[in-house]
Amino acid sequence: MPRKLLVAIEIADSRLVHMLQEKLGEIPNLEMTQWFDSAGGKGSLADKGSPDIIVIDDLTDGPSIFNRLAPIRQKFPHAAVFVVSGNQFPQHIVEVMKAGVSEYLVTPINDKILQSAVEEVRLQRASVGEISRGSIYSFISSKGGLGSTVIAVNTACAMARYKDSRVALFDMSFQSGDAGVLLDLYPQTTMSDVVRNYHRLDSSFLLAAMTKHSSGLEFMAAPNSPEECDIIKGEHVSHVLDLARKIYDQVVIDCTSMSINESNIEIFNASEVIFLVTDMSVPAIRNCSRVIKLMQKIGIDKTHIEVVVNRVIKGGALSLNDVEKNLDKTAYWLFPNDFKGVVSSINKGEPLLVGNSGMPLAKNIAQFVEKLKSPESSRGFRGIRGTFGRAI
Ligand SMILES: Nc1ncnc2c1ncn2[C@@H]1O[C@H](COP(=O)(O)OP(=O)(O)OP(=O)(O)O)[C@@H](O)[C@H]1O
Ligand SMILES: [Mg+2]
Repeated sequence: MPRKLLVAIEIADSRLVHMLQEKLGEIPNLEMTQWFDSAGGKGSLADKGSPDIIVIDDLTDGPSIFNRLAPIRQKFPHAAVFVVSGNQFPQHIVEVMKAGVSEYLVTPINDKILQSAVEEVRLQRASVGEISRGSIYSFISSKGGLGSTVIAVNTACAMARYKDSRVALFDMSFQSGDAGVLLDLYPQTTMSDVVRNYHRLDSSFLLAAMTKHSSGLEFMAAPNSPEECDIIKGEHVSHVLDLARKIYDQVVIDCTSMSINESNIEIFNASEVIFLVTDMSVPAIRNCSRVIKLMQKIGIDKTHIEVVVNRVIKGGALSLNDVEKNLDKTAYWLFPNDFKGVVSSINKGEPLLVGNSGMPLAKNIAQFVEKLKSPESSRGFRGIRGTFGRAI
């Protein structure tokens, strides 16, 4: 599984800590830990995982910043140190930076400066293979035809609307991949060509093999005929995803429905989150529960598995409560039933967010992507509002 960026905060002022935690919480794929009693200098928390970033304050009435920096730099030589300070005296800033600090953040902290400083560290850590740059999100239907392809394709399109994101969509539903139909894109080069040239496969080869869609996303299609699928093995999938994660900020994968085959296992292992798509019918929920158990059996941690419910209709035979009780899991997101929007999008070969952006499912998927990008901002909202507009 890709490791998240770990940020350790050693700051005395609890209000400043809180503010920083809020700002960092807006950045995806990041974990925080708080250090007390100069723990950083003692290195005593290193067993909890070495942080990628250590944020310390610069107190005028406490120990000198230079005395604190030296042991921290010695105990955590690979971590980037950020200093938060109200002191804007240029000579002081220069001296602190010279002491090996990566970022000097003047209070009140500017969100953009903090974000780009964090992303720069992520990039450096990714380039030395310490951490992955991109997040892999995979989608698998618990039973055939529940909407994994519709959701994966439109999620990737919604992600590509953010100009700061480079997004890839892989159709890894190898036997019957139809993601290209939804994009009206039929590439000459598919996953089977990549595998045939496996000996030459590196980042630039993969980049050249991807096909650009008008939405901005880059697409890798499933093989053109089912016979070509046999050559694709788990190790190929794993290597392709390793490379993709280095090139792209977000990688979306449409998986073969229901199956725990060799390729899907590699996809699950590489995924930040595996979205298991179900609807509110009894057979789909049964299968969903079965697939969750199978995933756990093969060692996928349940924190990486999220259930999303598609084609939600209020007042159906089963309530959301029934679904969640049966699965013993809270649904991460609810996608509305939007027959008109989906049919029009498929017929036109235009993803919802490209040519049908006013449709309910298009708006919902845009919000789903917002939640993925900034988990804190949704505050419990899961895509559909209940009575009186409350989040359900
Ligand atoms: N939210 C939705 N509202 C209305 N119809 C939907 C919705 N999601 C999916 N559908 C319908 O369900 C059909 C199947 O969806 P999709 O192809 O995405 O499922 P799948 O899980 O990828 O299927 P497969 O197992 O064949 O790969 C679509 O053609 C579309 O008509
Ligand atoms: Mg599909």
